[in-house]
Amino acid sequence: MRILAGSHAALAAPVAKELGAPLVTASFEKVPGGFPDGEAYVRIQGDLRGETVAVIQSTLGDRRLVELLLLQDAAREAGAAKVLTFIPYFAYGRQDKVFEPGEALSVRGIAKAIGSGADRVLTMGIHNPESLRHFPCPAEDVSGMPAVARHFGAMRLDLIVAPDDGAAHHAEAVASTLKIPWDAMEKTRIDAYTVKVAPRQLSVMGKRVGVVDEVISTGGTIAAAVNELKAQGARFVPVACLHGVFAANALEKLKACDDLACSDTLPGPQTRFSVAPEIAAALRKHA
Ligand code: R5P
Repeated sequence: MRILAGSHAALAAPVAKELGAPLVTASFEKVPGGFPDGEAYVRIQGDLRGETVAVIQSTLGDRRLVELLLLQDAAREAGAAKVLTFIPYFAYGRQDKVFEPGEALSVRGIAKAIGSGADRVLTMGIHNPESLRHFPCPAEDVSGMPAVARHFGAMRLDLIVAPDDGAAHHAEAVASTLKIPWDAMEKTRIDAYTVKVAPRQLSVMGKRVGVVDEVISTGGTIAAAVNELKAQGARFVPVACLHGVFAANALEKLKACDDLACSDTLPGPQTRFSVAPEIAAALRKHA
């Protein structure tokens, strides 16, 4: 197997190391500064003839999405026998319904585009695992929660809490690894930027409560949860998520967190732990 690093090589490199597989890199500019018209460009450095090639690329920002399509195509062009596409952060996963008449079912459109260039797609912490059916090739979601549990491991937490029911399975997974209880809060989304968390009968008074979600985007969900937990008397509230998107002023909203850490599915200031072992283990099954 060859690991083809997308534009976030800091994650692909440890995956390649875990697998003992060669890392193939790519360049993303033909001319310094890129094409004048803004088009993306990809060129692979390496011979992939007859190889199973695992392309690793998160798709936050449409440019990364286009790069992924080009990486898959370049891998085929370089002779790859099989293309496995691992998307650590899969954007557009949250538009998994037509909420208003006339909208695109975005997750389906994006899945079709990516899946037509891959033999198999693997995502991590996709918003709705049912969306995997939209890929026109076999697709699976890999849990990154073992990495969250490793991160929380030394914090002597009493309880893991999900900010809403959608993240309950993540809280349950982390709590079961740490052998502590878990719970989920009730969330109502008011609009794209505002969420309300209704109090739930959590016994968090004086407790050390870890909050877990798959993604932080505007930060509204986590901020509401942390503020509520603190209002209920929690004494230490660290937060961990897989994907630190941090749109707009999200970090400003999250000042009440006692600790804020994200995995390396996306590079960023809060990236503090790695999901490379989970990605490597999932790829190993398809080598
Ligand atoms: C929602 O279902 C997800 O699990 C996250 O809670 C949500 O997408 C986070 O979004 P934001 O940070 O904008 O509140």
